Amino acid sequence: MPDLPPSTAIVTGAGSGIGRAVAQRLALEGHDIVVVDRTAECAQETVRLLTDAGYTARAVVMDITNEADTQALISETENLRVLVNNAGIFNTRDFDELTTDDLRTMNEVNLVAMFTLCQQASRVLPEGGRIVNLASRAAFGARNCAHYVASKAGVVGLTKALALELAENHITVNAIAPGVIATDMLLERAEGLEGLRVQQPTGKLGTPEHIAHAVAFFVDARADYITGQILVVDGGRSVGGSATF
Ligand SMILES: NC(=O)c1ccc[n+]([C@@H]2O[C@H](COP(=O)([O-])OP(=O)(O)OC[C@H]3O[C@@H](n4cnc5c(N)ncnc54)[C@H](O)[C@@H]3O)[C@@H](O)[C@H]2O)c1
Repeated sequence: MPDLPPSTAIVTGAGSGIGRAVAQRLALEGHDIVVVDRTAECAQETVRLLTDAGYTARAVVMDITNEADTQALISETENLRVLVNNAGIFNTRDFDELTTDDLRTMNEVNLVAMFTLCQQASRVLPEGGRIVNLASRAAFGARNCAHYVASKAGVVGLTKALALELAENHITVNAIAPGVIATDMLLERAEGLEGLRVQQPTGKLGTPEHIAHAVAFFVDARADYITGQILVVDGGRSVGGSATF
């Protein structure tokens, strides 16, 4: 592989779970990493793991729903080439109990903040830039979380729309739709880890590294003709047409 030009990747929600694994994988691929998270300890721990391994990384502790802070993040990041919109929230509730405030809160983090970051980044990303968004298999339907499903369906639509908008700038925009991945987010699931594991065709839960591998695929320079795509990474669960994820 030829030497990469200097490249910085911003990974939101990189203080834990999938985001941390993405940060580690993209560092391995040669990118400097900006670890964004609202929890300082978690962000700093990811940076410690990266710098101890010899990579370049810094933490930015912020809430991605603050537009002034996201603009400062984009403006202050040198050599920005990759934006991974990973930060997200999840909880479950019967449809009858959901409020419009629940929907607004979910959308504010999972969709509106992503929209803002994509727009701000698109103004500075160079040719060859990459945006990868974390959707969810739930975007195609899931029970007990209509607000989450709606926000992630929005991520799918946003990703496709931006892929067209940014194609002439030679910036690709793709999304990953994970199935059940073993992270803290699963603690919100009533079935428990074992209950979720036995529902999977492989008999295994996905790992953050599975998702990091998919992100790295889209970020690779050789993926320059792949844009507007939603890659489902769920161990085959969606093939069975299950209504849960
Ligand atoms: N774990 C799964 O099974 C699964 C499945 C499908 C999709 N996803 C998606 O993958 C992404 C990562 O999920 P995860 O499982 O690693 O979750 P996680 O809860 O382990 O990590 C999410 C991270 O995002 C950060 N975050 C949340 N809101 C933020 C905000 N407003 N500002 C800044 N940081 C914020 C949290 O502090 C946390 O570190 C999410 O978008 C999630 O919806 C996860």
